Amino acid sequence: MPENKIENKKIGAALVVGGGIGGMQAALDLAESGIKVYLVDSQPSIGGVMAQLDKTFPTNDCAMCTMAPRLVEVGRHKDIEVISLADVERIEGTAGHFNVKIRKRPRFVNEEKCTGCGICAENCPVHRIIYVAPEKDKIEISLKDMEIMNRIIKEYKDTEGPLVPILQKANDTYNYLPEPVLRYVADKLNMPLSLVCRIATFYNAFSLEPRGKHIITVCLGTACHVKGAGKVVSALEGELGIKNGETTKDKLYTLETVRCIGCCGLAPVLKVGEDIHGLMSKTKVPELLGMYPHAQ
Ligand code: FES
Repeated sequence: MPENKIENKKIGAALVVGGGIGGMQAALDLAESGIKVYLVDSQPSIGGVMAQLDKTFPTNDCAMCTMAPRLVEVGRHKDIEVISLADVERIEGTAGHFNVKIRKRPRFVNEEKCTGCGICAENCPVHRIIYVAPEKDKIEISLKDMEIMNRIIKEYKDTEGPLVPILQKANDTYNYLPEPVLRYVADKLNMPLSLVCRIATFYNAFSLEPRGKHIITVCLGTACHVKGAGKVVSALEGELGIKNGETTKDKLYTLETVRCIGCCGLAPVLKVGEDIHGLMSKTKVPELLGMYPHAQ
């Protein structure tokens, strides 16, 4: 082997402490340059604080959309070994020759078989001593809602991953997800309520608060912003007597804002339900509201 090739050969391994977004990216960069990487995190899984965020500054990008590809890449990379639920106890040595002692804490589950569904936590024999599961007949849901939900659940329960479409349909039906409905879905799908709530709170399309019959969504993306979308929002707030994010007392209108709905050529744009209204201005607001009946 030529000498320079021997000099360039990567030897040894790198240890990255902390599996947040920075740690994951560092591990990927090192692994891509040919170095074996050990990624240590004290939490049961990597992802760090970013996994708990909805949007990130300054672009308002979805935190999960930024993080998920890296999570997958780290998990699949042949040169990255993730050591989660572990602490670095001791580091000795000098640059180029470190010895690190890592203590891995027990998980009390078979990691080969665990899918992270959380059902074991719900049924933990230790916690169950003090945990009283809600009895099935204690879900307070009206007969009418039960019939509606039975129809929706029947339609989707045999599809793959039925939870999201069921919640979507329920959200479309009620314009939000009432608590008894969430409990009923969890019960019928035999899923932990915590899992159903996690999905219901993850997607912006779902709301846990009652919303109006007409949901007005104004785009505040860059194109719409520079074309005066802010003035349209102010005009709507004035006409409806509510602030952004609120619902009128008569439950007719909810006012919301988003970043780019993909019709930048028509900026400023807003949606009422699924109807798109482009080239909006504050003077067009009364006419727009007149198009959506005031009767329930
Ligand atoms: S910025 Fe408003 S539609 Fe794209």
